[in-house]
Amino acid sequence: MSRIVYLNGDYLPEEEAKISIFDRSFLMADGVYEVTSVLDGKLIDFAGHAKRLERSLAELDMQKPDNFDDLLEIHRELVRRNDINEGMIYLQVSRGSAGDRDFVYPDASVKPTLVLFTQNKPGLADNPKAREGFKIISIEDQRWGRRDIKTTQLLYPSMGKMMAKAAGCDDAWLVEDGHVTEGTSNNAYIVKGDTIITRHLSNDILHGITRAAVLRFAREAQMKVEERAFTIEEAQQADEAFVTSASTFVMPVVEIDGAAIGSGTPGPVAGRLRDIYLEESRKAAV
Ligand code: PDD
Repeated sequence: MSRIVYLNGDYLPEEEAKISIFDRSFLMADGVYEVTSVLDGKLIDFAGHAKRLERSLAELDMQKPDNFDDLLEIHRELVRRNDINEGMIYLQVSRGSAGDRDFVYPDASVKPTLVLFTQNKPGLADNPKAREGFKIISIEDQRWGRRDIKTTQLLYPSMGKMMAKAAGCDDAWLVEDGHVTEGTSNNAYIVKGDTIITRHLSNDILHGITRAAVLRFAREAQMKVEERAFTIEEAQQADEAFVTSASTFVMPVVEIDGAAIGSGTPGPVAGRLRDIYLEESRKAAV
């Protein structure tokens, strides 16, 4: 059975959902997106994702879809119709189609395109990778300068994942001016002694919704948090490392550029934060 997806007000079988070849997300990567995870059939951190979406749209002078206020209900309806217990909901808003190609934004009469679809991932929370940990390579960060906006320009992150795959690894950390910005699709952390270190917020990284929650839980659990840049060398000498995102939650990192981190196995801080995050976000899920 095919998925039921959402396109501009309609719930449709995926084969019937069609958008214009002139859609600006297709021609210009002129679109923004969000990925929200689903556990126990409920949405994790929905309010944070909706707020970041609103900010991404505002930063790009992109109109909000007319049914922006119905997004929670649309997410829930897709979960219901596709019977999702664990997985993700992908949402994309593009600047729509003016019926031709033009660098200049179309006027406000051109409505944004709103697409949502589900990704069914049984076992998302009980991911065996969380028991093994990620192996990471470092690569130069060659993305544009507004990484705080969650745009659909994902070619460089895709290239990074392919470079990691070619090296027999799980992901890549991006390095700019000698310091780690973030992972290709996640935020990056190291643990030194009793301190969790992760890059401070700026236009250089995506302001992860999982990051905000994990740092809040860490502080509530009396762990120390330092928001600052760190180097690959510092990471290689750390006691632990991990990444966070809506699709991986808290994922331990056990190797960076061939060097084992700490014991070379998932560390206790990452494990504890993963447990707390899963427990607390299940409780707060909507
Ligand atoms: N990626 N940094 C980047 C570059 C990301 O693409 C993501 C998320 C994150 C983590 O953000 P959050 O905690 O809000 O998921 C950080 C999503 C999962 C993706 O592209 O599939």
